[in-house]
Amino acid sequence: SKGGFEHYMLKEIFEQPEALRNTMRGRLLFADGSAKLAGLDANRLELRNLNRIIITACGTSYYAGMVGEYLIEDLAGVPVEVEYASEFRYRNPIIKPGTLVFVISQSGETADTLAALREAQTKGATVLGICNAVGSTIARESNGGVYLHAGPEIGVASTKAFSSQVTVLAMVALLLGRERRVSAEQGIEFAHAIAKIPEQIEEILKLSDKIREIAKKYVNAHNFLYLGRHYNYPVAMEGALKLKEISYIHAEGYPAAEMKHGPIALIDENMPVVVIAPKDSLFDKVLSNVREIKARGGRIIAVTTEDCTELSDYADDVIYVPKVNSMLMPLITCVPLQLLAYHIAVLRGNDVDQPRNLAKSVTVE
Ligand code: F6R
Repeated sequence: SKGGFEHYMLKEIFEQPEALRNTMRGRLLFADGSAKLAGLDANRLELRNLNRIIITACGTSYYAGMVGEYLIEDLAGVPVEVEYASEFRYRNPIIKPGTLVFVISQSGETADTLAALREAQTKGATVLGICNAVGSTIARESNGGVYLHAGPEIGVASTKAFSSQVTVLAMVALLLGRERRVSAEQGIEFAHAIAKIPEQIEEILKLSDKIREIAKKYVNAHNFLYLGRHYNYPVAMEGALKLKEISYIHAEGYPAAEMKHGPIALIDENMPVVVIAPKDSLFDKVLSNVREIKARGGRIIAVTTEDCTELSDYADDVIYVPKVNSMLMPLITCVPLQLLAYHIAVLRGNDVDQPRNLAKSVTVE
């Protein structure tokens, strides 16, 4: 049931604090500053000896994988590549001893992701699954893995699965990091930062009505750009995907600095731009991107942290979110973008739970 919500999608957005608490339950080791993921215990040796990681997935799960790449490289110092499963399966990827493959799939039934898993196993890799659906094909065929425990996701547009996947990847990165270059002190701090995310998401959910008001201004837009840097680049991609699949408005995500290499030509008063710009070490860079958009008449919706004072001069609307460790910022910034896409789509009269041409699990290639 929709539990009093108008749509499953909205229910699942609001369920994120609880979903993430379930994802984390019993898995964060606060005293050691590490994580315990029982489904990886049998693969301890592989985890210890790996020298390269490939993450493969489709759609939203792929964008979670992009966040995973940054997390694992930052915390564990292990090279990570992220690849679309549909590409990986057909292009003869290089897999050598020490290469570990993660497949990410909410449904555990995505045809391309399953084929990528089998291709990796054929080439001798150990494949670990990050799945939500218990007992799904990908979960069963993986050599180990981590369940999300996010609860069933009914809405076709993935929301709580994304934040839960990123949470799992943060814990995987912490675990791998502690075996390599993360100190106990850093690990403890990071484990506590992860644990705090659900209550911080609760704060953002209170902004839903405000975001609906912003959405009203953009119901008739034909295009949208989403920009973010570093950890928020995958969030820009995910935000754009969310908007296109349920509102049918064309949207593109970009790493903010890429704008000047082409997309800036599109900017005028008819091109709303969502800029994810938390106050972090790259803030001034994003701010200069914002100025460039403003100078060309673009309309700006900014998502930033509560300590930011600069953006209100440039942005048409500013959505303030709690400030967290930069590595965990995607768990925070994804939420207002889910709400923005949801409200725009509902205001356009669309069926957000069953968008046209889409199915919840893509079991054909
Ligand atoms: C986006 C969406 C799709 C899925 C993709 C992979 O909202 O739902 O892009 O993320 O089809 O699905 P899973 O994770 O089930 O393999």
